[in-house]
Amino acid sequence: MAISRVGVIGLGTMGAGIAEVIARHGLSVVAIESSTAALAHGREMIENSTQRAVARGKLSETDRRDLLGRITFTTDLPELSSVDLVVEAVSESLELKKAILAEVDRIAPPHAILATNTSSLSVTDIAVATSRPAHVVGIHFFNPAPILSFVEIVRTVVTSQEVVDAATEFATRLGKKPVVIGDRAGFIANALLFGYLNHAVSMYESRYASREDIDDAMRLGCGYPMGPLMLLDLIGLDTAYEILDTMYKQGRDRLHAPSPILKQLVTAGLRGRKSGRGFYTYEAPGSPVVVDRIDSQNTELGPVREVQTVGVVGSGTMACGIAEVFALAGFDVTLVARSADRAATAIATIERSWDKGVEKGVLAPEDRDAARGRLRGSSSLRELSYVDLVVEAVVEDLEVKRALFVELDRTCKPGAVLASSTSSLPVIDLAVATGRPGDVVGLHFFNPARVMKLVEVVQTVATAQEVVDTATEVCRGLGKHAVTCGDRAGFIVNALLFPYLNDAVRMLEANYATADDIDLAMKKGCGYPMGPFELLDVVGLDVAHAIQRTLYLEFREPGFAPTPRLEHLVTAGYVGRKSGRGFRDYAT
Ligand code: CAA
Repeated sequence: MAISRVGVIGLGTMGAGIAEVIARHGLSVVAIESSTAALAHGREMIENSTQRAVARGKLSETDRRDLLGRITFTTDLPELSSVDLVVEAVSESLELKKAILAEVDRIAPPHAILATNTSSLSVTDIAVATSRPAHVVGIHFFNPAPILSFVEIVRTVVTSQEVVDAATEFATRLGKKPVVIGDRAGFIANALLFGYLNHAVSMYESRYASREDIDDAMRLGCGYPMGPLMLLDLIGLDTAYEILDTMYKQGRDRLHAPSPILKQLVTAGLRGRKSGRGFYTYEAPGSPVVVDRIDSQNTELGPVREVQTVGVVGSGTMACGIAEVFALAGFDVTLVARSADRAATAIATIERSWDKGVEKGVLAPEDRDAARGRLRGSSSLRELSYVDLVVEAVVEDLEVKRALFVELDRTCKPGAVLASSTSSLPVIDLAVATGRPGDVVGLHFFNPARVMKLVEVVQTVATAQEVVDTATEVCRGLGKHAVTCGDRAGFIVNALLFPYLNDAVRMLEANYATADDIDLAMKKGCGYPMGPFELLDVVGLDVAHAIQRTLYLEFREPGFAPTPRLEHLVTAGYVGRKSGRGFRDYAT
């Protein structure tokens, strides 16, 4: 089924991007809008986007001219009488999509394929509104369509194989990586993305953390190209609301019930970047430039305590990383381990890391030597009697940590800040083990601490503001990016990340898609650095399982409960890369 002329209906964010990418690959496009004003706006979007591509060296001026020359802009549906394929990209309304495709069905030649770019509506429902359901398929692009290289090809129970093949070939010709899947709300990527986005909105709505901190945490903690709230602005809050609503109605999973603020923003006309305002305010409608972002790293802090000397308790990966970072940044560090041997091993590990930095040319030899001079090891907590700040990074066991805080309370000088680097335990439990809960705060570093810029500063109901500000100031001194949040399981990053990973396992368990296709969807469709299964195998399934359990026990959300597949893999000892086998086999 040769495709050379394509109709694109609806020139909003998605339609304009789709028309651009099709024309870019040498096909002629009939681009249709319902009014001349909407048509002019769509044309302007394509002109601006291709202009940007030229400015970035991605497209030559001649190719841009040719690309634009291949698009016929019109408000006349009858222009579709000579196309081989129609892609509708109007707003997410089932009735509208059905009505449009029914009309297109009467105009397009009998051989033409009718495709919908719906993100979540039933392709089957849309197909049966035409006289050629076997010729109807979903071709779902990702925003921005000219940039993201993933496409979901959605086959219904009646789509013919010939049509699926033609759609797959068409997507490949556009330089996209297609994956063929069945007709289920959200398909692969949105089904995994929108639970996470909705959760981030509810965190923001409940003021658990600021919008900047939520977005920065996911960018810096997970390497995502955008934070969830800014991504929602890009997707369009009206579209996001419709997707969530459809997913909720199909699956009745309350994690997909749109957070109330989404509806309020849409009702107020604040539909995201395209309308100039959503969670953020933009320079102009459609502009990526945010004008009201608060630079949380430079906000003025209240009074802070002086911190020069630091104790790090522990000798594992995190303790070594944290001690390394503090000593490099100019703090005097005492690392306390359970034994002199362990302390010596930890110091040697840190020194090796510095030597490697010097070998690679990323660390000056004199900075390494100075840092070495500021770091010492010990096996006695009594050494911490004079330090200004203690960061504990011992095993994630509440009883062990509690006992340590009792000890620190006895040992440390009044006014010392006592921090825990726990990633999952309630910091308040540690605070009340001391006689000074106001001085206890969470400082959640990410692994590897030297590389990861993010630190979550966790404020319990008892933590003094001065202690939070001191912790934030210390992070700034380390060159880290501090975000502040409340004392809830998973803080920001793990609470948003792990339910998504669990959803991916559930999708695999349901045999909706393969691990390879799911990983591909999230990497190519959303720009994630790793797919969920790659990441789970790196993190360790035992670790993921423990975090998932903690989240479930705290929030009692059925959707957070670890999936049977994850449990079975952990039981079998297949815990990821470290054991040679997890979701994938690494033994060979
Ligand atoms: N054609 C080709 N290339 C272009 C281009 C165009 N028209 N416009 C820009 N580019 C290139 C740029 O040159 C740049 O390439 P280099 O990095 O090699 O220079 C790259 O594309 C990125 O462009 P920008 O600099 O303009 O943007 P950025 O670096 O700030 O990234 C972003 C912006 C691509 C949006 C990125 O933040 C991102 O990938 N975010 C995640 C988006 C996402 O998750 N999308 C999925 C949403 S869900 C969805 O869409 C489905 C649904 O149904 C709702």
